[in-house]
This record gives sequence, C-alpha cells and structure tokens, in this order.
Amino acid sequence: MVNNSEKKNQVNRIFDSIAHRYDLLNRLLSAGVDIYWRKKALRMSNINSDAILLDVACGTGDFAIEAKKLGVTRITGADLSLNMLKFFNKKSDWSKGNMVKTVAENLPFSDSTFSHITVAFGVRNFYNILEGFENFNRVLKDDGIAIVLEFQLPENKLIRKLYLFYFNKLLPAIGSFVSKDKEAYSYLPESVEKFDSEINLVDLFKKAGFCKVQTKRLTFGIAQVTIAAK
Ligand SMILES: C[S@@+](CC[C@H](N)C(=O)[O-])C[C@H]1O[C@@H](n2cnc3c(N)ncnc32)[C@H](O)[C@@H]1O
Repeated sequence: MVNNSEKKNQVNRIFDSIAHRYDLLNRLLSAGVDIYWRKKALRMSNINSDAILLDVACGTGDFAIEAKKLGVTRITGADLSLNMLKFFNKKSDWSKGNMVKTVAENLPFSDSTFSHITVAFGVRNFYNILEGFENFNRVLKDDGIAIVLEFQLPENKLIRKLYLFYFNKLLPAIGSFVSKDKEAYSYLPESVEKFDSEINLVDLFKKAGFCKVQTKRLTFGIAQVTIAAK
C-alpha cells in the first residue's frame, strides 16, 4: 500500500523524468487520438472566451493550448512537475506568468477564482482525489464547472482483451524504449487498471460538494469525460 507522500514523490519523479519525451509518446501511443479527446471534452463543456480557466495537472499544456484555440485567454496552468511545466513554457510563450507549480490537493488560489477547471489524464495520478475535488469546489465560482478527461477500460469484453494486450505488453515496451524510463510506462497501465476498478469519479465529485455530474465514454470506452457542476 503506497501512502500519499510516496505516491506524490513517485508521480513527480516519473513526470520529471519523461517530460522531454511526453508529447512524442502521447502522439505515438494514442495514434493522435488524445488530441481529439481533449477537443471533444472542451466542446462538450461549451467553454468560451468568457472563461477563467485553471488547467490542473496541465503537464506540457495540451489542454490549455486547445482551450486557447477556442478563444479562452485567461488560463492558469498548475502542475506538480517542474519539468513538465518547463516544456509547457517552451511550447507557449503566451502563458508565461500563468503557471504554478503546485499539487491539486492544495491549490494556492482564493475561493471562487475560476469559472472552469480542466484536468486531462491527471486525476488518476492525484495522491488524494477527494482532496483535489474539494479544492476544485473551493476555487470555482458558484456556477463553475470541472471537466475531467481520464482513461478507462473498455466495457466490451473482446475490445477490453485486445486493449489490455496493447496496454500491458506493447505500450510499456515502446514507452520505456523511447523515454528510457521503464517505471513510467509500467506505471501507466497499472494506474489505469487500479483507477478503473477502484475509483468512481461521480461519487467523489458529489462527496466534494458538486451537485450535477455527467459522464460520457469516448472511443470504445477507452477514455471518459466527466463534467461536474458546482
Ligand atoms: C499524464 S500527464 C497529463 C498532462 C496534460 N494534462 C495532458 O493532457 O497531456 C499527468 C500530469 O499530472 C501531473 N500531476 C500528477 N499528480 C498531480 C497532483 N497531485 N497535482 C498536480 N499535478 C499532478 C503530473 O505532473 C503530470 O504532468
């Protein structure tokens, strides 16, 4: 059983180590579908140029950059890993000054600051998801919404079998070869399987005080968008 501070250190170490290969591996391992998932999640949320957005676990910034394309200009990126933030900064000079190295579980922002919070492929890595969502609730305005994009396992048995073969065998091999980090790409399938079997985001959002929570599965159920209204 890994405790909170061990998980936080492990996740920090992994993302600091793979940051330089993160974007390449994302495109390679998802065949580019990750770009479509982020676009779809943002479109489902009806986000527009009025938004004041906090992108939590922003990593190298792909969700924030996608939101910028939709006209959102007030964006803050927050992440635990300094190296991921450095690569975000390299990719997007517009966001200079709007990046914070912090954990989701202890956000350094005043109450009711943001209209939207986005998290792509980050929640699974939080060391305490409920604490993260309680923080989201606090820093969101009264009519604010949180949009979470995360991996799930397909429900269809055959697709699930094929997917698990890819996920448990091919993906760690390609990932560790390109990133030179064996731990990172064995952590990915392990964390997705654990998340899929143990975590119910709807319940956690409700426990954290959100009132309306909707989910939608994407691409054979490999990914899920969860939208929670405060
Ligand atoms: C798989 S990456 C996702 C990056 C980006 N959102 C994307 O769509 O590509 C997960 C990110 O979550 C960050 N992270 C993990 N646990 C975190 C926490 N507790 N608080 C803040 N960021 C965290 C990691 O440092 C990493 O950058």
